[in-house]
Amino acid sequence: MKIAIGCDHAGYELKEIVKDKLTSEGYELIDLGTNSSESVDYPIYGKAVGEKVASGECDKGIAICGTGIGISISCNKVKGVRAALCNTEHLAELSREHNDANVLCLGAREIDKELALKIVDKWLSTDFLGGKHLRRIKMLEE
Ligand code: RB5
Repeated sequence: MKIAIGCDHAGYELKEIVKDKLTSEGYELIDLGTNSSESVDYPIYGKAVGEKVASGECDKGIAICGTGIGISISCNKVKGVRAALCNTEHLAELSREHNDANVLCLGAREIDKELALKIVDKWLSTDFLGGKHLRRIKMLEE
């Protein structure tokens, strides 16, 4: 699976941790930056992650900022993206099962690193349920 990953300065440290974990597990990562803790603007990185997923170049995306809010709004501006801000494992599970979320957003200043990695695991290992949920996500594109 190919995963686009991006963040702003507030998400940089967590992005590196997530990247190391997923690379060691055999995932192919496309890192869209940012690559330091120097202040940058999250819409640039949310858009970049969203476009990689919407174009089909990447199967899924992970986007990180301080709260996860700004970058999730940015990702969701890209047509075809269903970005979900998840700060629990349960939300990660439901965002896949019900919403077929194709981008996971994390708030690096809101959750600790251990929880963030559990959320990533849950999100990547949960499948979409389809059925009535497919009808609903199709409506989002109409
Ligand atoms: C950056 O200070 C912060 O505003 C950003 O990371 C994010 O939380 C925005 O939603």
